[in-house]
Amino acid sequence: MNSLSKQNRTNVIDVLTERLTFERTGVRLYDRILERIRATGDPEVSGLHAPMTAFRDQEKEHEEWLEAKIREMGGSAHAMTARATLVKTESRGLEEVIFDERATLPQMLHALLAAELVDNAGWDLLVALADEANDHELKKQFKRRLHEEEDHLALLQRAVARFAKREVLAAEDPSVSPSGS
Ligand SMILES: [Fe+2]
Ligand SMILES: [Fe+2]
Repeated sequence: MNSLSKQNRTNVIDVLTERLTFERTGVRLYDRILERIRATGDPEVSGLHAPMTAFRDQEKEHEEWLEAKIREMGGSAHAMTARATLVKTESRGLEEVIFDERATLPQMLHALLAAELVDNAGWDLLVALADEANDHELKKQFKRRLHEEEDHLALLQRAVARFAKREVLAAEDPSVSPSGS
């Protein structure tokens, strides 16, 4: 049976650690946003709490599953590999937005949408690598998590679009007098 782990072990661990590092950040981002959602009394916003709690738990499962995979391959779940360092730097702006006390919920969700786009691309890449290595078992495992990421992305896209419609389309510009008056 073909196995992705039979390829260059260091590089495979590197790409898994990249994903792990981002997933770990993802859990923290969800925790922060869930906290904010609970604090708002807006019923439209409260509807996000249940699905986003489920997504948060899936991100945690992704994190733990990756940790186990990396250890299984003889790596360390806390090593800062080259790709882990790269995504850590890349995600700094997203964390900055989401952990800023002054950030509005739409701004936080906007940043989380960016994170989910990266998450989707990351799992998609893992699926492609397992496919290339003919590692059917790992490909199945990666795909399962990619499908979960697709759900995260779809919900975030809808939520961001809803806020944007509210803000951009319904906003009245005080500098423009209403037509017909
Ligand atoms: Fe994830
Ligand atoms: Fe996700």
